[in-house]
Amino acid sequence: MDAKSPILLFDSGLGGLTVLRALRAALPDAPVIYAADTAGLPYGEKTEAEIAARVAGLLGRMSERYAPRLICIACNTASTIALGMVRDVLNVPIVGTVPAIKPAAALTKSGTIGLLGTAATIRQRYVDDLEAQFASDKRLIRYAAPGLVGAAEAKLRGGTPDPAIIASAVAGLREQAGGDAIDTVVLACTHFPLLEDELRAAMGGAVTFIDGADGIARRIVSLTQNEAFDHSAGSFAVTTATPDSAIYAAFAPFGITRVEQF
Ligand code: DGL
Repeated sequence: MDAKSPILLFDSGLGGLTVLRALRAALPDAPVIYAADTAGLPYGEKTEAEIAARVAGLLGRMSERYAPRLICIACNTASTIALGMVRDVLNVPIVGTVPAIKPAAALTKSGTIGLLGTAATIRQRYVDDLEAQFASDKRLIRYAAPGLVGAAEAKLRGGTPDPAIIASAVAGLREQAGGDAIDTVVLACTHFPLLEDELRAAMGGAVTFIDGADGIARRIVSLTQNEAFDHSAGSFAVTTATPDSAIYAAFAPFGITRVEQF
């Protein structure tokens, strides 16, 4: 394994930066290419076929160009739809992001869990299977909150999230039958932890928010434990849309100053 070989972290947009943050804390020397399909954002409003085709096509071409040692699909929507397919066609270890229903089921005291994701994620069989496997004795209340993706992107670009978007996501959970009892919320979209403070304030009461970022970082550490990392070539980002100045500002706090169009 070439010590300079990068880890490729992929998302539709900037949400995967929540995973990059955890990965940096766990493996500070790992060279990372952050790949954002900004021309395809948002994935949550696309069909399964569109998402699978985009993700498999892009990751195939990116693997050829960058020869990553590992690919992390830092996107619940892409993972719940295309993980199996991408694993079948690419000869690279692939770590996906799946809704953290298992840890939420272990944590909830009330037995009622909220799950916020994109529209495409919450309708997946993958989520039904996680619920059946880990939360069959709990109540899982799902709500699609696509507005939070744009709000998180705007916040990272220096804007203020619209309180009405936050309020409507929270109402979408609380107003369903049994929603008052939610004490644990799964943030099943990598964009949503960027809005955790706003969501916490709007949920009120003692609610625990869970996302998959730390678990993904631990999985990457375990899969690369015998490998050396040489960060001398640095980390950089690639975006499928032309990078604008706001995107540079979003990457800068993560130590990424080079952004290229793919
Ligand atoms: N960040 C992606 C996820 O984790 C979704 C955002 C989008 O709709 O593209 O699901």
